[in-house]
Amino acid sequence: MKKTQIKKAVIPAAGLGTRFLPATKALPKEMLPIVDIPTIQYIVEEASESGIEEILIITNANKHCMENHFDKNYELEARLYESNKLAEAEMIDAIAHMANIYYVRQKEPKGLGHAILCAKSFIGNEPFAVLLGDDVVINKKGKPALKQLMNAYEEVASSIVGVQEIDLSQVHKYGIVAPSKDYPSEGKLTKLFDMIEKPDQHHAPSNLAVLGRYILDPEIFSFLEDQEAGAGGEIQLTDAIRRLMIKHSVYSYHFDGIRYDVGDKFGFIKATIDFALDRKDLHDKVTTYLKELAQSMS
Ligand code: UTP
Repeated sequence: MKKTQIKKAVIPAAGLGTRFLPATKALPKEMLPIVDIPTIQYIVEEASESGIEEILIITNANKHCMENHFDKNYELEARLYESNKLAEAEMIDAIAHMANIYYVRQKEPKGLGHAILCAKSFIGNEPFAVLLGDDVVINKKGKPALKQLMNAYEEVASSIVGVQEIDLSQVHKYGIVAPSKDYPSEGKLTKLFDMIEKPDQHHAPSNLAVLGRYILDPEIFSFLEDQEAGAGGEIQLTDAIRRLMIKHSVYSYHFDGIRYDVGDKFGFIKATIDFALDRKDLHDKVTTYLKELAQSMS
């Protein structure tokens, strides 16, 4: 099997974030902090820990603060050093060196497929990773979700979508994969024969949902270029992958890790509680508060 290393990643972050209005009127949802770290920083960290060398963030006119976040801030650093806040100064400096990050604007929010198409000239003719800007995956005991997919790519050298099982009542919110017949005998890596965007419960081919991580072959761009608008009037990545599948093999990989949909209010609240409980400085206070709250509600 050919072994092409995945070196570039695309993070689409140009959506309108309507589920988070009014917070997202002026602030991109990718900058909403989970405790004190903006969501997009967790995504960039995952890409960087997976060995990605260059990251392209798809932004829109409203998203300058993302660029500022990953840039140097000499004035702030100087002030922190002056007031002897060395740990804070080093932390601010480290964020600016996390990865080589580039930006391109999606001029209109025409959908995820259209956002990925904006990466065409940056990617060129090599396979690449996609991490959605509002899907955070934590896998403390093992490899980052993206690295798991990158390793699987080395086996099959073909496009892969990251999936996990979801409750059947939720399938109408996701791209759902249809594994080929030998599923589940192949284990985590499964060849697909179809993929459906937001099916209703009775027409879902499985309960395996595509959850924000992809490895795509560059052939996807030729399908995105003439992809018509699909669900929600948007150019859907799922529809283009479905067409890619007719000519090239596409696999799903069932990744390990807890995934938080932080573009959804409840997903964001769950992430905030879990991440706070995981912090040494907050664990005890949050635990005590949650216990008191549970008692007062019982
Ligand atoms: P979502 O559908 O979750 O984002 O897209 P959204 O459209 O911002 O959400 P709501 O429904 O209005 O609240 C998944 C990812 O794709 C990006 C989003 O920023 C998000 O990270 N996206 C979506 C784009 O970059 N461009 C688009 O046109 C649409």
